[in-house]
Parts: sequence; structure tokens; C-alpha cells
Amino acid sequence: MIKNTLIKATEAGASELQRFFNGSFKITNKEGINNPVTEADHASEKAIFEVIRKDFPDHFILSEESGEIKMDSEYKWIIDPIDGTVNFANGIPLCCISIGLEHNGTIIMGAVYNPNMNEFFFAEKGKGATLNDKPIQVGNKSAVMDSCLATGFPYTYVNSPNGGLEVFNTLIRRGVALRRIGSAALDLCWVAAGRFDGFYEHILQAWDSAAGFLMVEEAGGKVTDFKGNHYSVYQPQLLATNGKIHDEMLELINNPSEWDSKRFVVSK
Ligand code: IPD
Ligand code: CA
Ligand code: CA
Repeated sequence: MIKNTLIKATEAGASELQRFFNGSFKITNKEGINNPVTEADHASEKAIFEVIRKDFPDHFILSEESGEIKMDSEYKWIIDPIDGTVNFANGIPLCCISIGLEHNGTIIMGAVYNPNMNEFFFAEKGKGATLNDKPIQVGNKSAVMDSCLATGFPYTYVNSPNGGLEVFNTLIRRGVALRRIGSAALDLCWVAAGRFDGFYEHILQAWDSAAGFLMVEEAGGKVTDFKGNHYSVYQPQLLATNGKIHDEMLELINNPSEWDSKRFVVSK
């Protein structure tokens, strides 16, 4: 029942995304620079809420555009009504609906749907991850130099030591394949599907990662903060990898200027 509701809610949000995609819609700006929210984000959120509220009127909801709708419940729905809003607003088809379901503090299910590519990712704790109902697995690269990585940046860049640009600078100068596709939820799903070997971002919110992080774990990957602690969606740092490059990525992120790629065996 709850899995059905999750799938129905994700599809309801995606119908709204598609209704507005490449059409006209109102855009307003949130805090930060170029941090848009569109009419479609609100429409998607409304459609998702309707499905959840019909089946589970007393569940807690945490959603990007409405914040916390607190309820005394063991269940919390963590919703990004459109992840990749800048892509969406520019007609770039890399955007999705992302919904994670938490039970007593543990994320137990996640769904991420990019209707533009007809790709529906789903994960359930202990039961694996799927793309359009087919099981997915992380990739098997064992060195960062051989990997295809992804990252993202917050709307307002935080200039801190070893920040996002320092890590980016090191990787690009060494010639590592590194992408910035503009949707953290898809970045995580693409790690789970073995397209990316790793994804890191310095500041994320719970709704960006709740579903995608479970996807990576259930596809056999590893997700931590930048100290190597098991990932919590309620702190900002996220490193998700295929597992094999995790330790090397941790060293690199914590000290990009000292990264010695030759210390790690390059697989061929
Ligand atoms: C953003 C995207 C982006 C990431 C930002 C997020 P939004 O979410 O996931 O890839 O770099 O940190 O805020 O605003 O499109 O929902
Ligand atoms: Ca987001
Ligand atoms: Ca969003």
C-alpha cells in the first residue's frame, strides 16, 4: 500500500512537470542568486500532497516549497517536487521528482522519476534498487583517475577551505571526467545505475538526497559525509560512490591540493 502511494505520488508530480515542460510558467526567485521556483514546482508539490494525504492523512511531510508539515507520526515523506529546477526552467530535460520515505528515522523507500527520459528509479531498504523495474548496480572502477564523476554547487557559493571549486579545480586539472548535470537526485541515481562512479556535493538539503542516497546504497554503493560517517540527510555534505573509490575520494575532498593519484592503483 505505502509503496503504491509513493509511486502514485511520484507519477502525479511528474505529470505536472510534463504539463509545464517547455511551456510558459511563472518564475520567482528564492534566497540566493538565480535560485528559481516555478509554477510547476508548486503544482507538482500540490499533486504529490493530494496523493499522500488521501492515503495517509496523518503522516509527517517535509517538502522543499512548503517546509515541515509536522504530524505525530512514525512516517515522514521527504519531497523535492522538482529537482533540477534551473534545467527545467531552461527546457533542459535533466529534472525529476524525488520522494524519500522515512520510518522511525530510517529512509526505507525512495522514488526518483525523470519523465523526460522515461526513467523511474525505485529503491527499498534491503530489497535493492531498480530502473524501470530492472535491478541496477553501481559501477566497478577502482581509481579516481579512471572514473566518471559528478558534482553540484549550491545557489550561493560558500567560500570555505577545500570548498567545491578547489576540489573541482584539482579534478579538472588532472583530467578526470567530471560532470555537473544540475540535479542531485539524478546524480545519485546515475551513480546507482553505474553511469557515474561517484558524486559529491558540499551543501545539500534532505529533499535533494533522501531518495537518491538509498538508491546508491541499495545498488551496492557507499554514501557518507566528508569524514566517512554514515550519511544523514540532515547534514549538508554528501559523498556517494561505487564503494571502490570511496577512500580515495575522501582523501581528495579533504585535501585536494595534496591528492596523489599515484598512491592508488589505476585499474586498466
Ligand atoms: C538543486 C539541484 C542541484 C544542486 C543544488 C540543489 P533544485 O536542487 O539538485 O543539482 O547542485 O544544490 O539545490 O533547486 O533544482 O531543487
Ligand atoms: Ca533539489
Ligand atoms: Ca526543487
